[in-house]
Amino acid sequence: MTAPLTGYADRVSVRAGEKISFKVSSVGPGPYHAMLVRIVRGDPNPGGPPQKIEDESELFDARFASREQRAWPGSYALIEGAKDIKLPGALAVEALIWPTLPDDGPQTVLSRRDPATGAGFALVLTPDGIALESGTTRVVTGKKLRSRAWYRVWASADPATGMLRVGQQPLRRAFEVDDEGEADKTGASLALDVPQPVLIGAEAALDRPARHCFNGKIEAPRIAGLAAWDFARRIDSMEIEDSGPNGLHGKLINLPTRAMKGASWTGRERNWQAAPQEYAAIHFPDDDLHDCGWADDFSFTIPKDMKSGVWGMQLRCGPHRDIIPFFVRPQVGKPQAKVCYLAATFTYQVYGNFSRGVYDDPFRQRVAEWKAAANNPDEHKDYGLATYNYHRDGSGVAYSSHLRPLLSWRPDYLSFNDPLGSGLRHLSADTHLTGWLDRMGVAYDVVTDHDLHDKGVEILKSYKVVLTGSHPEYHTAETLDALQTHTETGGRLMYLGGNGFYWRVALTDKVPGAIEIRRTEGGIRTWPAEPGEYYHAFDGAYGGLWRRSDRPPQLLCGIGFSSQGTFVGNHYRQAPAARDNHHAWIFEGVKDEVFGGYGFSGGGAAGFELDRLDHRLGSPLNAVVLASSEGHERRNFVVVHEERLAITSTIPGETLEQLIRADMVFIDKPNGGAIFSVGSITYCGSLPHNKFDNDVSRLTFNVINRFAELNLKWPF
Ligand SMILES: [Fe+2]
Repeated sequence: MTAPLTGYADRVSVRAGEKISFKVSSVGPGPYHAMLVRIVRGDPNPGGPPQKIEDESELFDARFASREQRAWPGSYALIEGAKDIKLPGALAVEALIWPTLPDDGPQTVLSRRDPATGAGFALVLTPDGIALESGTTRVVTGKKLRSRAWYRVWASADPATGMLRVGQQPLRRAFEVDDEGEADKTGASLALDVPQPVLIGAEAALDRPARHCFNGKIEAPRIAGLAAWDFARRIDSMEIEDSGPNGLHGKLINLPTRAMKGASWTGRERNWQAAPQEYAAIHFPDDDLHDCGWADDFSFTIPKDMKSGVWGMQLRCGPHRDIIPFFVRPQVGKPQAKVCYLAATFTYQVYGNFSRGVYDDPFRQRVAEWKAAANNPDEHKDYGLATYNYHRDGSGVAYSSHLRPLLSWRPDYLSFNDPLGSGLRHLSADTHLTGWLDRMGVAYDVVTDHDLHDKGVEILKSYKVVLTGSHPEYHTAETLDALQTHTETGGRLMYLGGNGFYWRVALTDKVPGAIEIRRTEGGIRTWPAEPGEYYHAFDGAYGGLWRRSDRPPQLLCGIGFSSQGTFVGNHYRQAPAARDNHHAWIFEGVKDEVFGGYGFSGGGAAGFELDRLDHRLGSPLNAVVLASSEGHERRNFVVVHEERLAITSTIPGETLEQLIRADMVFIDKPNGGAIFSVGSITYCGSLPHNKFDNDVSRLTFNVINRFAELNLKWPF
């Protein structure tokens, strides 16, 4: 279902002088209103401090005609150049396929067809087996294919005789399954050669870019005398290469998955770069989405003096409202503040449009009462899924693009109907932090993961301190290197979240707007990558947990993911080190030894996902535990799989109960550098408690005040 009013921008971050373009879909009535806002505090919970989304209409304020723009999910290959090539007299096509939804309606493997008349041909998977269609003539094998098994499928047609043939053969037969066969038919006059593009995994349609999208893998499709596509080539891109003389190369639409095991995979090699011919398959799910390709409605050039920060373009039309967030970064080497807040845009994107299946009536009612972001991905699957979801065909979603409406990436979006708090995650949860910075009078610049990946440590160089938000989970080697270098060269880091620096992701200039993730081996995850499909297509790196590439989070910030539970928070208890001469300043003004049993995320500072210190995994020997969380209900928490060996035994040798905790740590680093890590996703949710006057707020204030050398006064 299309949302009544939504849109996206062409980029995640901009700096002064750069232009950002907005693409909007509005069903009306009447024109819609667009206005610039500054996002300070997004939480719409009426029980908390008021939301602060500042009117910046002086900089941008306009009305535009409403028009509906649609998203068309479903991946396929498009070979435009095939329009101009004549087919030899007769048709002969074949491909290897690995269907995933063979019981579904027609799914086209290979086609070149006039969508108005049906002239041309389409090789189609149907519940009755493989079919060849031309015009209104159709021939089908009548033998159902199995799911997740490889078949060779073929078809031929001869206009001279009017004969059509089609066939299918499993590469491995299954006992007592009859799924092999051939059929033929003599048609009337056949119009096989039409000046149309070739589509692989779909066919042309009149009312949309393509229809009858295939679900499953396709390998080595060919049309005799025309082209033979070799998907083992250009695997790191969204291009496909024709190995034949016509050079009918094509492009992949909507991010089908590459570097997939093909029909000839032997298991001898697991890295596609070492045996590309064994990875000559592409997986095409019919709910993939890359770039919606919407037309620009308007653009905005960032004025010279516009502050770095979290900004948004607010859209309104009748009862409908949406905000498209974007980030204004400082120019490299020209900081506007001493503090740099690193916005976890990789994590926002990877989670973008996470359909959690929890949007029920009580949840809808809360969203309406709180006037929270109105669009939930559970109700708008046509904007594509998150890498936390499965495709409709049961395969994991390995790519996420920001060139589409990302309904969960909104400042006032509720992820959970949280009975103990506001239920915020990601951007909206991180406004607990930006709202706190604002209330404390701490000026800050904003740099995104995307910027850090592009520019490296240079963009952090001017800052005393870098802050993370609640959940900086996804990183590339470039972002980790930058943060590591920052902390090794005198920079300070405040890691104010949980389950950070956990998964490895990949980006590539060849596929704009997209991020790739392979959920390999283990870890807390929502789908498993298939055996042999652990290397990224985008950059060829081994995917999965950073820990599997010998780079656990503890190496950077002293702590790493230890256990996951329900979205419920508990308290921390101060450790003896909190009172020693070297660390007592952190707890100055903190009233209680036990603190943080309150907050707007799960009702407590230590909850949902917890990190702990572990020297074996790289926590520096001088890391000091200042406090640890306690009181977590064992039955509501699971220790991360990568720490477990058998029913009760664990790699660190501690009991499961002991591993359910967050450690707050302090680490001195060379040249005056230092790290403060809290190890909980719900920590920032406690900052606004009691109008920001609380122990969590106080100790965080003490740290930022000293780390950034601000000389601020505690405001209460
Ligand atoms: Fe996460």
